[in-house]
Amino acid sequence: MARTVWDSSLGKKTVMAVSGLIMLTYLVLHMLGNLKIFFGTEDFNEYAHWLRTLGEPALHYEWVLWGLRVVLVIAVVAHGISAYQLSRRDIRARPTKYLHRKARASYATRTMRWGGIILGLFIVWHLLDLTTGTVHSGGFEEGRPYQNVVDTFSTWYGNVVYIVAVLALGLHIRHGFWSAAQTLGASSRTRDRALKATADILALLLTVGFLVVPVAVMTGVVS
Ligand code: HEM
Repeated sequence: MARTVWDSSLGKKTVMAVSGLIMLTYLVLHMLGNLKIFFGTEDFNEYAHWLRTLGEPALHYEWVLWGLRVVLVIAVVAHGISAYQLSRRDIRARPTKYLHRKARASYATRTMRWGGIILGLFIVWHLLDLTTGTVHSGGFEEGRPYQNVVDTFSTWYGNVVYIVAVLALGLHIRHGFWSAAQTLGASSRTRDRALKATADILALLLTVGFLVVPVAVMTGVVS
């Protein structure tokens, strides 16, 4: 049963939609959490500490965080694999089978593919930068994300990497949210305008919400 669902294009699109919505929920929370940087060093660093002690004393240190990480990794992998397989299917189906099929993938499809690749690479860079500190520009200090974020946005390449990724994220969510709504059957003639407006607003809020942090460091509002 599960195998048949997974093998169907609709099954893969459903996996993409559900994993996408899980990541979207995480990103809304992450963006809101990032805005705590405007309340100062103590607030932001305490917030990062709180994320690690969540669930205590019933659960141990970092258990909730690790649970979240496992869910996110599963979502990212499932999203990537189904995207790749759907895209292979699309390419295989192309030559002459359907006369009306366009020779090239549409603008939206190409934007989603490239956007997805950019975001995948960005996530790796971002984790090495602000979670492990492996590629961090300054002296990375665990447990002091405020200083780490300021270091990152004090280099030109840090700003370029994050700004490009956040813009790609905005475009990806704008189209992805709409696709997910269609796959999950939420779309209808009466609801389509509202769904498209929701996709636009969500994408815009996330883009602006993430971008204000590098802009604040560049302009000296956060230092
Ligand atoms: C200006 C934009 C961003 C800033 C300033 C930022 C900041 C941070 C910081 C400081 C951490 C480490 C938190 C800690 O160790 O307590 C973190 C972790 C993380 N961020 Fe971001 N982030 C940004 C954008 C993004 C985007 C666009 C994505 C995804 C596409 C993302 C995904 C993640 C993930 C998956 C983690 C790891 C969470 C964990 O397992 O500890 N971030 N971010």
